[in-house]
Amino acid sequence: MRSLYRLLFILIPLTAPASSLAPRSGWVFVPGAQDLIQAGMWNCASGITVGTGSLTITATTAYNTISNTTGPVLHPRGDFSVLAQLSATSSTGTFLTLVGTLNTSGQFWQGLKRLDVGVDNKVIVANYWTGTSATPTAHSFPLPAGAGDSITLEVARIGAEIAVFVNGSELGSFGDPGIFSSGTVYLGFNVAPQNTLTVLAMAAAMPAGSATTLFAPYMQVATRSGAGLRDIAASSGFLIGGAINPVDFSDPGYAQAVGREFNLMVPENDMKFAETEPAPHQFSFCLGDQIVAYAQANGMSVRGHNQVWELDLPAWLTNGNYSSAEASAILEEHINTVMGHYKGRLIEWDVVNEALSDSAPYGLKPSYWLTQLGNNYVDMAFQWAHAADPNAKLFYNDYGGEGLGGKSDGIYAFVQGLLSRNIPINGVGLQMHVDPTSAPSESDIASNMARLGALGLEVHVTEMDVRLPVDAAGNASAADLASQATVYQNVMTACQASPNCTGFLTWGITDLYSWIPSTFPGFGAALLLDTQYQPKPAYASVAGVLRSNSKTPVPSIATVTNGASFAAGSVTPGEIATLFGQNLTSATGINFTSGLPLPSEFLNVAVSVNGSLAPLFAIDNVNNQEQINFQVPWEVGSKSTAQIEVLHNGMVSQSVTVPVVSAQPGIINYNSGANNFGVILHANFQLADINHPVMPGETVLIYCTGLGAVQSPPADGAAANGQNTIANPTVTIGGISASVAFSGLAPDFVGLNQVNVVVPATVKPGNQPVILSIGSAASPPVLLPVQ
Ligand code: XIL
Repeated sequence: MRSLYRLLFILIPLTAPASSLAPRSGWVFVPGAQDLIQAGMWNCASGITVGTGSLTITATTAYNTISNTTGPVLHPRGDFSVLAQLSATSSTGTFLTLVGTLNTSGQFWQGLKRLDVGVDNKVIVANYWTGTSATPTAHSFPLPAGAGDSITLEVARIGAEIAVFVNGSELGSFGDPGIFSSGTVYLGFNVAPQNTLTVLAMAAAMPAGSATTLFAPYMQVATRSGAGLRDIAASSGFLIGGAINPVDFSDPGYAQAVGREFNLMVPENDMKFAETEPAPHQFSFCLGDQIVAYAQANGMSVRGHNQVWELDLPAWLTNGNYSSAEASAILEEHINTVMGHYKGRLIEWDVVNEALSDSAPYGLKPSYWLTQLGNNYVDMAFQWAHAADPNAKLFYNDYGGEGLGGKSDGIYAFVQGLLSRNIPINGVGLQMHVDPTSAPSESDIASNMARLGALGLEVHVTEMDVRLPVDAAGNASAADLASQATVYQNVMTACQASPNCTGFLTWGITDLYSWIPSTFPGFGAALLLDTQYQPKPAYASVAGVLRSNSKTPVPSIATVTNGASFAAGSVTPGEIATLFGQNLTSATGINFTSGLPLPSEFLNVAVSVNGSLAPLFAIDNVNNQEQINFQVPWEVGSKSTAQIEVLHNGMVSQSVTVPVVSAQPGIINYNSGANNFGVILHANFQLADINHPVMPGETVLIYCTGLGAVQSPPADGAAANGQNTIANPTVTIGGISASVAFSGLAPDFVGLNQVNVVVPATVKPGNQPVILSIGSAASPPVLLPVQ
């Protein structure tokens, strides 16, 4: 039986991570902006050195002005502020820079709307540009007593004023000339010549309850329908993903599709050699970091691609006249640095890519690395990779050897050789860039996967696309789209039938952005979603294979009950309901959601009531008794029936339709010995139990659910505030009518009702039954100990 302890878990306070900066009274950090050194992606900006927990900006002969245009920006709504702890080597010109509009043309000041606030010659100076002149408007304020070159600065827009605070005290303010009227604030710094600024902390704040956000395309959280490929694949832990270009996250359709469909991403180009080491010993992780940030925001994994390849090498390397020993040291440093940077954040890497030739005897193909490092280069690369990130799975990745044949035999013999020399390798990537006329057969792919599996290796399909002839508009024929769907189906079927095939990735997600049209002129339409992000026949075939995999059984509903009385077969608006069934969850134990409002999707589970998703409290799977605790949406009050479905792993249960009744009371209860006691509290919130019995005449609080509609209900899933019920309950204790003082929603809870009654003066001592009724609907009795 349900008891109150479960309901008490519903309220888990949200705590913000510690920061050396604190918002002023009544203000809070902008979500995600409590540590803008870490969240700011400063390594994407040039001219700034990113340390652990600090930023350093040095200026030599000219001003060094940074605006972080590739990092996150603020979207202020009303009042907001930026706080920073700044430390400079001298008192000349070190500023926090906030840009509302970037310069639009020609001179730096044209169109520029920018505010600099900082220390300049021992005073606090605020300079702003409004786009029409090189000379800023300046305001200055004396430094507060005791403040030196290290200050905590806060620049706030409050109403129509810009206010400046140093070390917590307001220095003054001036009228805002509309610097941030664009609705965007880029973050930055400005440092005068010969000076160095160290930023020790940075954050953004706003009045509590306001709507300012920190935004970056790669921080968007995709809306999950529960029916994406990743949801269908989830129960078996199967990895499904694709190649990603983070610059495309600025297309909202792209960001949504990637997070909705995939649980794995691989950068299409941004972790390759030339991208990550554009100049000798100078590494660039900006775009790769954006992929990792998107993965974290969307609960996804990332695979790295790649460390060693004949292509994508920078000219500084290939034209560099390096000796063999130097080239070897460069590769070792590269692997160490790049894999070290991502250590613990990527699940796996393609260490060596496309090393084998396409014709007999399928040996190592000519490349810079073979010439420079010799036949050993693959062995060395895997060993360096393993040392750099011992927990990442290491793959050899190639094309043209997915089915059976000469190249596939060559790859097999090659990885067998690596294993025989104890080289650390975990898997083989089968790229699968194919077209319907050349694609390998399902049985050949399965045989190849099986023989690699017999070596103890995992396989992934790593880069699948199926290119089709297209017309000038990029469209393929319906017949070709159908054959493409068959090719995808065959490959996915082979993979799902192979226990060692643990992942499947396409080389992109939408035909809108695919390497095929530029690389294979006359071809295109190679991916699962079309240029409008609509699923193609191939999408349906991939989803169909995943769905028919026996590892993803269909959920089914057995009963829907009131959460407290367990009365089955009807629901009341706003109540806590419990749904029992099979295949509702892959989790075990009791999993509570945390925080309010309650989520409508939790652990891949959602409950649909009349087509909208209901707030979820908890998902239980104890001793194979699966149940979902959810709130019946208030909206059902206007309906006569509620149609209920469970969505799990992209599968939808049968629909169950139950009548909506105006009330179905149930008192929350707990078992003690053979007795079923009610969760009834003294006025001081002490539980009335046998050690704390009630006295006749005292007021007690009965916790229950199913009392039906209330006046001004809160939003579904949101905390209640003591709203009164519309129907009037009656209560008997020991068969004697008790006077009801209050009946409504328990404050701060969701879906929990509270009825306050006076224990009748004439009630007898002992465990007395309590029954709560509304009209003819009566709760099952629970016991209450009476003194
Ligand atoms: C391709 C990218 O898709 C292109 O954008 C880039 O210009 C060249 O590289 N095999 C691989 C991938 O391992 O890295 C290649 O990606 C496609 C073939």
